[in-house]
Amino acid sequence: MNLPPTALIIGASSGIGAALAREFAHNGLRLALVARRQDLLEGLARELNTVEVRCYAHDVTHYDEAAGLWQQILQDFGRVDIVVYNAGVMLPVGPEDYDFGVDRRMVEVNVLGAMAWLNPVALTFSRWGRGQIVGISSVAGDRGRVGAPGYNTTKAALSTYLEALRNRLTRRGVRVLTVKPGFVQTDMLKGASKTFWVIPPEQAAKDIVRAIRQRAQVIYTPARWGLVMSVIRHIPSVIFRKLKI
Ligand SMILES: NC(=O)c1ccc[n+]([C@@H]2O[C@H](COP(=O)([O-])OP(=O)(O)OC[C@H]3O[C@@H](n4cnc5c(N)ncnc54)[C@H](OP(=O)(O)O)[C@@H]3O)[C@@H](O)[C@H]2O)c1
Repeated sequence: MNLPPTALIIGASSGIGAALAREFAHNGLRLALVARRQDLLEGLARELNTVEVRCYAHDVTHYDEAAGLWQQILQDFGRVDIVVYNAGVMLPVGPEDYDFGVDRRMVEVNVLGAMAWLNPVALTFSRWGRGQIVGISSVAGDRGRVGAPGYNTTKAALSTYLEALRNRLTRRGVRVLTVKPGFVQTDMLKGASKTFWVIPPEQAAKDIVRAIRQRAQVIYTPARWGLVMSVIRHIPSVIFRKLKI
């Protein structure tokens, strides 16, 4: 039997993850949706009733559950073609804060959760010789800025981990896409100051789907951030540390 293609989104209950679920559904993909807020996942499933959608309540910091839930999702759908690790948190940090608990919480969700999920996914896709992995990183991972040391670190780590996965898996026929959004109008951005070029999550979702089609490896959304970050990445440290960004 030919089963229709399926996408799994980890962190699908709001923002970019929910917008991506809508965009995938629009393209006819079946959906496995993972997050903690089951009510939001189920609301999304009711809205997207033209495709098969299953919801899985899960906290990505319960690392021991990830590999088993991945196997369950494979069994439930028979095939999974695209896996998106989107779960992420950016906790508020003041200019004089050096709070290990806050930084650890961000590492737990943004980095360790990604590894707990994408390692078993990589193993499966590597054995199959096909599959698409997508990781939602950030422009924030491209430099260590004064405003968000912990969050910057998590996104730098995630980008490097995704690059290494890509270097391992490309030769096996598996694709890995790193997505680096700028500012996206989601719950995460609430209360953030000094934002600009803010895009709706729907625009980020469309950019991600286009990048998957084009077999891209790394994208910035919106694309103009690619140019900006190529300049910012090359500002010498001695100058960069004097800037307020
Ligand atoms: N918004 C921006 O400007 C921006 C810019 C660059 C990168 N990003 C990245 O984009 C991704 C999505 O963020 P967003 O802006 O769409 O914010 P959001 O609306 O707050 O979405 C965050 C998602 O992560 C999930 N999540 C958080 N902690 C989790 C946990 N412990 N277990 C399972 N799921 C968890 C949330 O689900 P539950 O709370 O239901 O568990 C939610 O679905 C993040 O990785 C973020 O770092 C965002």
